Amino acid sequence: MKPRVLLTHPLLPEAMDYLASQVDLELATEEMILPREELLARIEDKQGLLCFLTDAIDREVMDRAPKLKIISNCAVGVNNIDLKDAWSRGLLVTNTPDVLTEATADLTLALILATTRRLVEADRFCREGRFRGWKIDLFLGLELSGKTLGLIGFGRIGRAVARRARAFNLRIIYQDPKRLEASLEKELGVEFRSLDDLLREADIISIHASLTPESHHLISAERLKLMKKTAVLVNVARGPIVDEKALVEALKTGQLWGAGLDVYENEPAIEPELPKLDNVVLLPHTGSATRETRQKMCFMAVENLLQGLRGERPSHLVEPVEKTSVL
Ligand code: DGY
Repeated sequence: MKPRVLLTHPLLPEAMDYLASQVDLELATEEMILPREELLARIEDKQGLLCFLTDAIDREVMDRAPKLKIISNCAVGVNNIDLKDAWSRGLLVTNTPDVLTEATADLTLALILATTRRLVEADRFCREGRFRGWKIDLFLGLELSGKTLGLIGFGRIGRAVARRARAFNLRIIYQDPKRLEASLEKELGVEFRSLDDLLREADIISIHASLTPESHHLISAERLKLMKKTAVLVNVARGPIVDEKALVEALKTGQLWGAGLDVYENEPAIEPELPKLDNVVLLPHTGSATRETRQKMCFMAVENLLQGLRGERPSHLVEPVEKTSVL
């Protein structure tokens, strides 16, 4: 008999067809959001769960699923899952690292450029028919060359951003719970800083940390005040790492020059003041959204799930580790 699996939302078609050929598959919903009651009702008899970052997989969900063996998350971030609870029940939890590193790093650079060079504002200006000719002070932005990029979180994605940033002649400083060996810092051309020093020194600050209880509101109102008034904050990691209300205040009062956001504190809700501001670029959590990467993520999530259901050790098992960026 094939194992029973709950898929919370559709995968890309090829991966979903493959999954359906291997297991007894139930798709919970085609909608963007799966109502909690639906999740609770449908998980009951399942051995496998393939879910997404929009699904909160907590104690209540796991209590309802006595037969569950594996939770395969189709994302690298696993903050939507109560890991401690899952591990205490002997459940396997898997994620999709590596395959989304380059796409997410690309989007980080796109957000840095879009924010510092005011691309969205300028595009809107053209579309509204307001371009009347070249002008010396039209859409003046910030130059990247020679500036300092501060990376908060220096895992796979942070390092991929650093590689790209060097091509823009940016100096790179980083903060991570785990400092690199001096020889590796030298090889990568990066310097370690305390978080507060990084915030004081960097011209562009980009977040690539995991969301954990320790990183919640890491960028608080107090920390925003440490940043230069000419600084730009970019977040492609998880929204709750930044106090969004404090960020709005900093952007409104000129405490901060600009921000580029792909993620939000109460996603999919966006702090209502943010879209009213010109000095912010807003994206709908599309860091990994290339066709190639999303395809790989889907197949990786399926493979992890099947391995776990077969009693094998999944290739991308999330395990308790010492604190360091998982992204
Ligand atoms: C992840 O994988 O955690 C991203 O946020 C979505 O690709």
